[in-house]
Amino acid sequence: MNASAKIAAPIIDISGGRKSFGAVDALTNINLSIRDGEILTLLGPSGCGKTTLMRLIAGFESLSAGSLKIDGKDVANLPPEQRPVNMVFQRYALFPHLDVFENVAFGLKVKGVEKSEIKQRVSAMLKIVQLEALSGRYIHELSGGQCQRVALARALVNRPRVLLLDEPLAALDLKIRQHMLVEMKRIHAETGATFIYVTHDQDEAMILSDRVVLMERGRIVQVDRPEDMYARPQNLFAAKFLGETNIFEGTLVDKDTVETASGQRFKSALDIKANKGERVFASIRPELFSFQASAQGASQSAAVTICDVTFIGSRSFYEVAFNDGTRARLQVQRNGRSPLPAISENAQVFWEAENVVVLPSA
Ligand SMILES: Nc1ncnc2c1ncn2[C@@H]1O[C@H](COP(=O)(O)OP(=O)(O)OP(=O)(O)O)[C@@H](O)[C@H]1O
Ligand SMILES: [Mg+2]
Repeated sequence: MNASAKIAAPIIDISGGRKSFGAVDALTNINLSIRDGEILTLLGPSGCGKTTLMRLIAGFESLSAGSLKIDGKDVANLPPEQRPVNMVFQRYALFPHLDVFENVAFGLKVKGVEKSEIKQRVSAMLKIVQLEALSGRYIHELSGGQCQRVALARALVNRPRVLLLDEPLAALDLKIRQHMLVEMKRIHAETGATFIYVTHDQDEAMILSDRVVLMERGRIVQVDRPEDMYARPQNLFAAKFLGETNIFEGTLVDKDTVETASGQRFKSALDIKANKGERVFASIRPELFSFQASAQGASQSAAVTICDVTFIGSRSFYEVAFNDGTRARLQVQRNGRSPLPAISENAQVFWEAENVVVLPSA
């Protein structure tokens, strides 16, 4: 194998994966290649199969059909402790009768690692999660964020190639969660491990991930970099799940133009996976509308009435009605230079064909 082939080789490769629990198909047709060293986030509504996918990778469950390879080897018959994988659970379980050091050292002790090496590895790991000063504390003497870092250290001290993190921040409040996200990125960079991260929270997914796997009812909907998934959702579910958007239902009247029932047209400059005459949806993000024409003069525009305005710091949200009755939500930046329209005024809104995503109805 040459060097470039080695870089391209996935650390985990799932092909045609299915998992059923009795009559319930928790996962169907899972095809996923996970790159060595990336942070991959599994994102999707409750019950879509995120934890099940993690447990399959960890070896706590086995596939009903399909194959799962880790580092090129089929792991169907490999028990969890023989996989180069560690999992941090949705509800982490630390040992209350052990202090921080002993909690982190536990796995190494069980493996029979030499005492001096345990001391050296645990100390190094406590340094990474910035808990050296608290190594003698008991678990009940720690904050939620500190407990979470002990759980991380306990998994990472085994030097797994892959770390599975199932909603590790769910129990923490917003402030600590944001702090822990930064920590997580730093720890990822310092260890070089592959992180597979589960969250309900789309902001968390966007901040953390190299790539996002969007799931719905046991299937993978889209795998993409967060910014690409946001800009180019592949279907209606993806468009609505990640961020806010305006959806305009209509017919593809030309190869590139959606027309609503009441006659409003949206032209798209993007790839469209539908044929002329089909029912489709045009999706435009609130921040991609404007009250000014673009400098290139390539904008589409429509006359609207302002129905509602909400000010949030430097941004304003506008609820507008097109003349045909179509409603839309706009997010505009207030810069003080150009005056913005007020409630019940008439205005002109502009948008660009590059920002109109046309989605098939199925
Ligand atoms: N051991 C099991 N026996 C039967 N059904 C199960 C079992 N484990 C999971 N399921 C079902 O499989 C589906 C996927 O569950 P899973 O726990 O993977 O979802 P999830 O995406 O992690 O959800 P959440 O975000 O709520 O944690 C659900 O319908 C769930 O009820
Ligand atoms: Mg879960």
